[in-house]
Amino acid sequence: MFRSMARWLAVGGAVVAAGSWLSRYLRPLQSTLTLNEAVVIITGASAGIGRAYAEAFAKRGARVVLAARRADLLEDLRLHIETYASDVLAIPTDVNSEDDLRRLVDQTMQHYGRIDILVNNAGADAGGQLYSISLDEIRTLVRTNLEAPMSLTHLVLPTMLAQRSGKIVNIASIAGRIAQAASTVYSSSKIGLMGFSDALRRELVGTGIDVITVLPTWTRTAMVTPEINKQVNFVDDPTAVAERTIEGMLMGESEIVFGGNIMKFGLFVERHFPALMDLYWRSELTPQYIEAMRSNSQIGRN
Ligand SMILES: NC(=O)c1ccc[n+]([C@@H]2O[C@H](COP(=O)([O-])OP(=O)(O)OC[C@H]3O[C@@H](n4cnc5c(N)ncnc54)[C@H](OP(=O)(O)O)[C@@H]3O)[C@@H](O)[C@H]2O)c1
Repeated sequence: MFRSMARWLAVGGAVVAAGSWLSRYLRPLQSTLTLNEAVVIITGASAGIGRAYAEAFAKRGARVVLAARRADLLEDLRLHIETYASDVLAIPTDVNSEDDLRRLVDQTMQHYGRIDILVNNAGADAGGQLYSISLDEIRTLVRTNLEAPMSLTHLVLPTMLAQRSGKIVNIASIAGRIAQAASTVYSSSKIGLMGFSDALRRELVGTGIDVITVLPTWTRTAMVTPEINKQVNFVDDPTAVAERTIEGMLMGESEIVFGGNIMKFGLFVERHFPALMDLYWRSELTPQYIEAMRSNSQIGRN
């Protein structure tokens, strides 16, 4: 009896393994979505990775909608990419204002009549240990990095559901899978964003809408201060992050991880051997490291 159960389990396991191996090869390598004329809303487009997304989507023939607070930077970018973009719209937006988010969606719909891709990229950091961060900073960070992407997705979904197609691209972070000391609030907000993405992906199965999560590692933008630059071994290029995201999105990937095999190994250790990761953090958390993280604040310090 025990031997026959073991045999059935072995056969079942082999069938599941073979099926999942085969599905990787039978899956179409290109998504049916082309970027020609696709309407893409990008939050946090005024700088850094968001600006790189705007340029990369525009180069591929998409119609891009640029959203961020700094209207002058958005206008500069609009003028720069309108020379090669299919069409471009700049809508000054504070993602923490519900009125602004509604205006962003309404103006996009009035202008283009559809929304194909939403890139929830706007984000901020306030590094340092929890007790060194004000309650205002905590609230602003969680609103910007977690509540705003949920609210904007909520506003965009009726259009995508009616179209029976769409892509929601959430820019999380490696800190959304590996909890980071001295970046506690930032890391928690990104872990929340990962949970939102995973839950939404499951909720939207069969609707034609895909949810893609992007996990950048340190990337050369205002977030990498000179102090942080001295502490980290590797800094990615924003254009490379944007290009790889679009490639992964078109290939049907649902999670795009940066930082190479070292980060993949880190994710494995965090998931299966968290005590080892605790040990790693004991050695990493030096006063210099904490000071470097403190230098990183996009939302102002009291
Ligand atoms: N750089 C990295 O090392 C790194 C690593 C992992 C993940 N990420 C993530 O990548 C995303 C982009 O960051 P980045 O590195 O490009 O940083 P960045 O250069 O500081 O750009 C942040 C962008 O977010 C926008 N933003 C911030 N608060 C906003 C608000 N309330 N309303 C509207 N827009 C707002 C900013 O525009 P305005 O100031 O004009 O509003 C800016 O365009 C973030 O979600 C970040 O967490 C970055």
